[in-house]
Amino acid sequence: MKGAAPQGARNEREAADWVRAMFARVARRYDLANHLLSFNIDRLWRSRTVRRVRPILERPGARVLDICCGTGDLMLALGRQCPTPVLGSDFCHPMLVAAREKIARRRARAGLFEADALCLPLRDSSLHLITVAFGFRNLANYRAGLAEMRRVLRPGGMAAILEFSQPPNPLFAALYHFYSRRILPLVGGALSGSRDAYTYLPESVRKFPSVEELAEEMRRTGFEAVRYEHFTGGIATLHLGITPPPLPPPSAPPPDLPSPTPC
Ligand SMILES: C[S@@+](CC[C@H](N)C(=O)[O-])C[C@H]1O[C@@H](n2cnc3c(N)ncnc32)[C@H](O)[C@@H]1O
Repeated sequence: MKGAAPQGARNEREAADWVRAMFARVARRYDLANHLLSFNIDRLWRSRTVRRVRPILERPGARVLDICCGTGDLMLALGRQCPTPVLGSDFCHPMLVAAREKIARRRARAGLFEADALCLPLRDSSLHLITVAFGFRNLANYRAGLAEMRRVLRPGGMAAILEFSQPPNPLFAALYHFYSRRILPLVGGALSGSRDAYTYLPESVRKFPSVEELAEEMRRTGFEAVRYEHFTGGIATLHLGITPPPLPPPSAPPPDLPSPTPC
């Protein structure tokens, strides 16, 4: 369970720098390439994610952050169901610029800030919901990413991780691998002008922990009620987890017992 390791990166710092530079190169064409290469199914995955987290979203005063928000598609979809403005963060400036333009075009209410998902500028227990779509796989350290999500969530808060995964059906997996390794780098490269981004994508999905491993790591981080749901035959999977409720305050000793004396 380490983290993203693009070829040539010797440590976490270099891995993060490589990822940031790669997204900066594709930021302008990211949406076009994304929607075309997924045949628009990515929109469906995000709207299903929104449906699964709706009970938290609709709470009055819900504080919601979409990390690795990129050009803001999940953040905006969440914002349509949330009474309070949703926040989005990313460490790649050009992606945030694209998100800001989209927010302005749609006259949406959302707040953006530039931050590494491994070190969020937020107080402990400050959010009700934290989401991440197709960004978690790119973190330089998955364990640290989960710990940071857990830290900023309130007791009873929810984490939702939407990420590419390996389809469990071998025949479908073979078809999907052919598409993602042969077609995607060609078409994605032509659309975005950066072939290495679309060669990295299937490679990073292949190296990413299995759905069970990620679920287990979420439990180890302290999330409860961890569950996952495959979308479109397991091309993508949504993981959900809840932070435990606060411990009840210690009850007073029964009246017939002597009070503890200090040693
Ligand atoms: C594949 S894009 C996904 C964008 C968006 N969530 C979506 O659904 O389209 C991944 C995003 O994660 C961001 N990212 C990767 N590692 C990050 C990190 N450590 N901290 C903040 N953002 C990160 C990248 O800059 C990029 O914008």
